[in-house]
Amino acid sequence: MGTSFAAFQSEIYAQGLEGRTPKITTDPAALEDAAGALLEPWAFGYVAGNAGTGSTARANADAFGQWRIVPRMLTDATTRDLRTSLFGEDLPAPVLLAPVGVQSIVHPDGELATARAAAGLGVPSVLSTAASHTIEDVADACGGGPRWFQLYWPNDDDVTASILRRARDAGFTTLVVTLDTWTLAWRPRDLDNAYVPFVRGVGTAIPFSDPAFRALLDRPPEEDLAGAVQRWVPMFTGTDKSWGRLSLLRQLWDGPIVLKGILHADDARRAADAGMDGIVVSNHGGRQVDGAIASLDALPLIVEAVGDRIEVLFDSGIRSASDVVKALALGARAVLLGRPYVYGLAHGGEEGVRDVLRGVLADLDLTLGLAGYRTPAELSQGSLMRAPGS
Ligand SMILES: Cc1cc2nc3c(=O)[nH]c(=O)nc-3n(C[C@H](O)[C@H](O)[C@H](O)COP(=O)(O)O)c2cc1C
Repeated sequence: MGTSFAAFQSEIYAQGLEGRTPKITTDPAALEDAAGALLEPWAFGYVAGNAGTGSTARANADAFGQWRIVPRMLTDATTRDLRTSLFGEDLPAPVLLAPVGVQSIVHPDGELATARAAAGLGVPSVLSTAASHTIEDVADACGGGPRWFQLYWPNDDDVTASILRRARDAGFTTLVVTLDTWTLAWRPRDLDNAYVPFVRGVGTAIPFSDPAFRALLDRPPEEDLAGAVQRWVPMFTGTDKSWGRLSLLRQLWDGPIVLKGILHADDARRAADAGMDGIVVSNHGGRQVDGAIASLDALPLIVEAVGDRIEVLFDSGIRSASDVVKALALGARAVLLGRPYVYGLAHGGEEGVRDVLRGVLADLDLTLGLAGYRTPAELSQGSLMRAPGS
């Protein structure tokens, strides 16, 4: 039997008998504003901000609103089992923590706190290339917990090989290659604050600790930060890539490879044809192409195109358990939770991430059961209905 995540609910009410209430709101809709009240405007702007007018992020939210769950009764769903497996790894629930870079801007422990919180629940966290801590330190923080690594694919093959070798040596299993951020979009919140972390040497712990990258520098980053930044920023966004070059990653990584940022069924087919093991249907939370298709609207077509060939994961706009249910019902094998856990991190480091994640998982457990399902695999498009007028 899997973990009863719903037990978190009883725990909170039991604490109430001792006069205690949760440190972080359990209301998914209130989490972002609560984090905004805590963080410096430039840090909050970097996390909450989007590309252009923000229309893609709004489309993500609207797309979830256009589907409604149709609960079923007397289905014997009083106990649930949320477990699933991906690429031979057992997961306690079909939820992972999305790769989010530069987490030290919201809490000094950053990715270490996130890794500890996720590992404590057995949930995989995906470490970003743009992390504020090194691969090795985050691996230590994971302890025995599952770990995936996200690559921003550098333009230098030796640096790519070195980073991937370090990730493999540190026990990272699945490689997530992000394709949609080969340059940063026009992001007005950051532009108005004239703030981007990388040019300040924030979110550069992985390259700056990398022997192949350091070998390219006249002087080490500790002595010449500006020189190291100037070398890394144009290199890490990966502007020289094509479908044909994926074979290099296959040579360098002997575990599963997942392409992140896929929104078109033809690209999903190309990923499968190129021998990739999975994709993440994602529009980067609306941070890259303003006016793009909602990630959820892309999902059914992509599942239809490749769902029987490769694993289809999903992110962008997941704010609550009902969003998770909808994405799973539309064919995602698992979802990646993004900004909500970063807001938890802002509130309370490791404990904050854990509480937000436990909240989403508890709500998922309850919502799944109340909708009449015992396992995520029982969900299908028939579990949903289009909202009237959509
Ligand atoms: C502050 C921030 C930093 C991010 N950094 C990365 C990153 O380094 N690598 C990556 O692949 N995706 C990154 N993402 C995108 C997330 O992995 C994910 O696709 C996105 O957060 C999903 O949208 P949502 O948070 O609105 O649900 C970042 C997102 C945010 C909000």
